[in-house]
Amino acid sequence: MEYISVAIDGPSGAGKSTVARAVAARMGYVYVDTGAMYRAIGLAVYRRGIAGEDTAGIIASLPTVDISLAYQDGMQHVLLNGEDVSEAIRTPEISQYASKVSAVPEVRRFLLDVQRDMAKNSNILMDGRDIGTVILPDAPVKIFLTASAKTRAERRYRELKEKGQQVTLEGVLADIQARDRQDTTRAVAPLRQADDAVLLDTSALDLEQSIAAVLRIIREKTER
Ligand code: DC
Repeated sequence: MEYISVAIDGPSGAGKSTVARAVAARMGYVYVDTGAMYRAIGLAVYRRGIAGEDTAGIIASLPTVDISLAYQDGMQHVLLNGEDVSEAIRTPEISQYASKVSAVPEVRRFLLDVQRDMAKNSNILMDGRDIGTVILPDAPVKIFLTASAKTRAERRYRELKEKGQQVTLEGVLADIQARDRQDTTRAVAPLRQADDAVLLDTSALDLEQSIAAVLRIIREKTER
């Protein structure tokens, strides 16, 4: 049986994972958050005391790193050598490590096969930066989900404030712009919209409207 793959790419803070998770649940597709896999490698490197800039050290550690995904009640859990690290990968420090390891070509190659294999075994909705361009170039549905830097900064600022963190809107915006630059200008698999991806700008949409828009695109692309 042929399985359907939905590729969703876009910059940080566009609400991709929240939207993607909800859409996958409604469609009964397996949700694959590829960012979590880069984060797990970042965590492995960090725990071993390897610097984010130490490319040789990062590459040397790969043979002893095993990344897998498990699902409990539809929620993705990421396992690093069998340990559930779903919480541990969500710190600012590990975000930085994830960003550094994701620029190493060997790390991307290492995850490429794992990610492609997942698409062979079930209907999936995979989110990341290079899913439509590199990982699943033949996916029948590709969506580039974005929002203006200002909107993304405002959303992120509200989230951080609710967590009681001391941040300014200007600071959050500057961070987002710096990360956008890093993601779009790196040499390997830079963030870009695939030629055949549908552009969805959620700047003026709330969560429910974004979910509805994604569901509509998937329906249009698969029901014909
Ligand atoms: O989406 P996220 O913030 O969890 O991603 C963590 C890091 O991994 C981020 O710096 C971008 C990178 N990444 C990537 O290079 N390719 C992907 N397919 C997914 C994430």
